[in-house]
Amino acid sequence: MSQFGPDYIRAIAPYQAGKPIAETAREYGLDEASIVKLASNENPFGVPESAKAAMAAAAAELGRYPDANGFELKAALAKRYDVPAEWITLGNGSNDILEIAARAFVQAGQSVLYAQYSFAVYALAAQGIGARGIVVPARDHGHDLDAMLAAIEDDTRLVFIANPNNPTGTFIPAAEIAAFLAKVPAHVVVVLDEAYNEYLDAQDQFESSQWVRSYPNLVVSRTFSKAYGLAGLRVGFAIAQPAATDLMNRVRQPFNVNSLAQAAAIAALNDKAFLEQGAANNRAGYAQLTAAFDELKLQYVPSHGNFVLVKVGEDDGAGARVNVALLKQGVIVRPVGAYGLPQWLRISIGLPQENAAFIAALKKALA
Ligand SMILES: Cc1ncc(COP(=O)(O)O)c(C=O)c1O
Repeated sequence: MSQFGPDYIRAIAPYQAGKPIAETAREYGLDEASIVKLASNENPFGVPESAKAAMAAAAAELGRYPDANGFELKAALAKRYDVPAEWITLGNGSNDILEIAARAFVQAGQSVLYAQYSFAVYALAAQGIGARGIVVPARDHGHDLDAMLAAIEDDTRLVFIANPNNPTGTFIPAAEIAAFLAKVPAHVVVVLDEAYNEYLDAQDQFESSQWVRSYPNLVVSRTFSKAYGLAGLRVGFAIAQPAATDLMNRVRQPFNVNSLAQAAAIAALNDKAFLEQGAANNRAGYAQLTAAFDELKLQYVPSHGNFVLVKVGEDDGAGARVNVALLKQGVIVRPVGAYGLPQWLRISIGLPQENAAFIAALKKALA
């Protein structure tokens, strides 16, 4: 083991991504075309046609650098979210936004707060800058905002909240987030990570982008990877007041969002039909999966995202064991042992036939 680099970097356990289809085919001797991947909360409809056309048009200019300030995409986002374009930071995926926030608002030795069972990248973003992560125990698999408020220390500079949360799918209603924001000290930045916002039912939706007007320490983070079907392109964005946006702009890479991604995101943002189709499929898929879990008497966490966390056994080997049994049948899901949930698996909601293939494979795996 090399002794290069700081201790806090050597202490990092690398992010475990969903297993790629090609790798699974190689390892299990399967035909790639037969594999069902429900492991990375991707959009089962893939890239919207509108975005494909926009990318084809943008491809001719790939010899040039992308617009470093993302003028057109920011203008489209500003219009959509009714905020000034100067309040927007683009990211190479919203993962980039999370890391940019850590670098912009926290220095080594200070603390970053997040919930148990919340998105793995919060810990990584903190560790990557030598900050101390404070993990607040979850309540019913979700954020316990009262406990998070109480856990803020003198040196805490950043709080990450995932709403809905990944990998558990839990959701915090608007009123609870508002009450939390009203009590957080003004020098502590709150990143409200809404990667799955577009999957929320209409009655749960709220305009967090407008809350930014009241809270200079609020950063709202969104992505084009999920409902917009552009995970492979890597586009996310943050909305925050100018003081916070200015700091984030200082630490981001100058060309962090490529030209194809900028063009595709503008097209996808305006593709209402694609979003509606995805939301309808997600609702139907959630009903399909949870009906099967009920039939199999498996506990699951009610989800507000495009995935469901399901308990597949009582022993700590259950998640890994059932995962391998599914892989052998060509179904890739996400084990969550690294999240401290070794009895559970996270299943992304796919097309009806993909969900059905998973359910059939699960029944065999559990038999
Ligand atoms: C809660 C949450 N935030 C952020 C991300 C990052 O996604 P991306 O970098 O593709 O925008 C994910 C991806 O799974 C997520 O689940």
